[in-house]
Amino acid sequence: MSKVDVVLGSFYGDEGKGKIIDYLSQKADFSVRCSGGNNAGHSIEIDGKKFAFHLIPSGILNEGTIAVIGNGVVVNPEVLLEEINNLKENGYKVDNLRISDKAHVIMPYHVQMDKLQEELRDSKIGTTHRGIGPVYCDKYERCGIRMGDLVTGRYEKQLRTNIENKNKIFKMYGFEEFDADEVIKKYNEYARKLKEYVVDTVTLLHSALENNKKILCEGAQATLLDIDFGSYPFVTSSNPTIGGICTGTGIGARYIGEVYGVLKAYSSKVGEGPYITEQNNEIGDTIRELGHEYGTTTKRPRRCGWLDLVALKYAAMVNGLTGLAINHVDTIGKLDKIKLCIGYKVDGKISMDFSTDIDYINKCEPVYEEFEGNFGDISNCKTREELPEKAQKYLNRIEEIVKVPIKFIGIGAGRDAMIVCK
Ligand code: IMO
Ligand code: MG
Repeated sequence: MSKVDVVLGSFYGDEGKGKIIDYLSQKADFSVRCSGGNNAGHSIEIDGKKFAFHLIPSGILNEGTIAVIGNGVVVNPEVLLEEINNLKENGYKVDNLRISDKAHVIMPYHVQMDKLQEELRDSKIGTTHRGIGPVYCDKYERCGIRMGDLVTGRYEKQLRTNIENKNKIFKMYGFEEFDADEVIKKYNEYARKLKEYVVDTVTLLHSALENNKKILCEGAQATLLDIDFGSYPFVTSSNPTIGGICTGTGIGARYIGEVYGVLKAYSSKVGEGPYITEQNNEIGDTIRELGHEYGTTTKRPRRCGWLDLVALKYAAMVNGLTGLAINHVDTIGKLDKIKLCIGYKVDGKISMDFSTDIDYINKCEPVYEEFEGNFGDISNCKTREELPEKAQKYLNRIEEIVKVPIKFIGIGAGRDAMIVCK
């Protein structure tokens, strides 16, 4: 049987997973999204044209690759249909799309509940307001509606109960109440349009494995946004780490092959919460402008800072990373000096221990090593050896500390602007 390769985010998201996924999925028979929903934003640039994916696995761009939305994903049908139409308008076929019958459906009340809950929080999370937390809550509360229920029309009774219950809360806070008949009318229309794509993806993926097909799992979000391993409560409501790949697809751990952790040569974060290497100053502003660090999903300016190897080591540990994919090496190379966090100073001692405990984090001071920047134009480098020595020094140090080999080096935005290491 073949092995399943996985691409995961190593930090707080937006590491450029789309770029690596795009490269790997060109050789994959199946490209699979496993968790999260349209809080994700994966952009790919082909011939100067930018495609932003929120739900559909970007492997759909390759003819012949089957794009699967796994059972762990939460689906907003309206957003999905927009994405389907956008692809069609650009001349891409979507017959290769499959959606799990077990994937939960985002309803309008989830989106509104997300806004209400954020309003009620003393300490804001800064969610994407896409209804992600509330839809996962319903899934675990066991009142969720799944794609299989939607397209067979079995969902109506549950939907009426849900709307009745949620309306009581909305009324209490002076929010808009929902009319069940209206929602059903709208969602029946979505169901009609999406029905052809909904299948049992567990069986589909297992027969693919038996037939030695190449499967690529595309992670969304990232390790430090994980509900269990991230900086709780400033996290998303799913497991974007390796375990979420198994539970979000029905693929057992023994079938997992390569696990690539994607990172940037610097770091960024959207939303609230601790961020030890943040540069809330001119350096952060420069990185933001050079790296175009504004949200694909929400357009928010991202917080920017230096690369944190303590956090990266943690991501390598939690996910069992077998390779690193480092993006924006061209971007960091535009600075004069680059800093790399190689440890935390805690109670006078240098530590490589990462923790999401807030008292611990508040005690941590980043310890930096400084590197020469000004890499010059590296856009034509085809191998790691062709990179300027200054860039190699920086990359070598990352590998040395994290002890995971670098497999991909991003040197620009375009599809081909990437060095594949031997
Ligand atoms: P990709 O796949 C960056 C963040 C939000 C917020 C927190 C909770 O593009 O890397 P949610 O709406 O999920 O309840 O918000 O998680 N967040 C992301 N940040 N990239 C993402 O996805 C994200 N998905 C969620 O900003 O802080
Ligand atoms: Mg994003």
